[in-house]
Amino acid sequence: MISRAAVALPAYTEEVVHGLTSRPKTLPCKLLYDDHGSQLFEEITRLPEYYLTRTELGILQDYARNIVQAAGSPVSIVELGAGTATKTGTLLRAFARRQMRVKYFPVDISSGALGDAKERIKEECAKVIIHPVVADFGDGFHFLREIPGRKVVLYLGSSIGNFEWNDATAMLRRVRDQLTDGDALLLGTDMVKAPEILVPAYDDAQGVTEEFSKNILVRLNRELDANFDLDSFRHIAEWSPSQSRMEIFLQSLWPQTATLRTPRLTIQFRQGERIHTENSHKYTLEMIERMLCVSGFKLENTWFDAQKWFALNLARVQAD
Ligand code: TRP
Repeated sequence: MISRAAVALPAYTEEVVHGLTSRPKTLPCKLLYDDHGSQLFEEITRLPEYYLTRTELGILQDYARNIVQAAGSPVSIVELGAGTATKTGTLLRAFARRQMRVKYFPVDISSGALGDAKERIKEECAKVIIHPVVADFGDGFHFLREIPGRKVVLYLGSSIGNFEWNDATAMLRRVRDQLTDGDALLLGTDMVKAPEILVPAYDDAQGVTEEFSKNILVRLNRELDANFDLDSFRHIAEWSPSQSRMEIFLQSLWPQTATLRTPRLTIQFRQGERIHTENSHKYTLEMIERMLCVSGFKLENTWFDAQKWFALNLARVQAD
């Protein structure tokens, strides 16, 4: 039998140890998305309080023709973090109505999700030619170089908002550096709005978001042999006006100790102490324009829903 110590630790181990021994305590948000977490997130996107997904889909449906017209005539449509591509069909159909030979490159870290994306798009728009790309953005965006012709890069959802400002602009800059003049980016952004709308979107009545949030601890219990007591933590979602973001935490209900067995680590919690797990930035149009501009793009068009809760932004690569 292989001894426990000989089994390779997960790649994120060091980050977890660092985060849990920092003050304030943090955990990397990517840990949210194991198989169960990804399922819970899909459930979140269908919750009544979580307006983001359905609002963005509404914009795509209402303005697909306008977006396609403004985008120009791309050869290749690349979607970063495509997942199962539930929202992309409308847009691809609008491209396919206007031009022959639309090529779609869904990019994701999960090959399973890309398999589903391929099936879905084949059914929704038979004319589109699909080339899934498995890639980890941590390794850069070199794959963009191998994708032929004029490109439109889609980055939908509000994933950009999960980055801090400097990381968001650095990421967009790295994308831009693999593109050429005339290529475009379609970026989804969630807008600043009343906390009465924002907070429930991240803390729903049924408790699905709480389960999603706590799934990080479930995962550490399983994968690092930890003993977090789930009932001794609560999920918190707070609006920070100064940072313009929703902040997600796990809070210790009382003084307690948790341990990891591999690697060995004891973590003390004071009553009320928090682990910061995620941020979700909300933008104004000025912030979006600035974010794109400092990343080497020029904002050309923005489409909103009727309440201006969410935006789709079309930006063009700008020569330096
Ligand atoms: N990208 C999603 C967002 O910012 C992620 C998310 C939704 C999330 N609900 C959450 C992250 C709750 C942590 C906890 O909207």
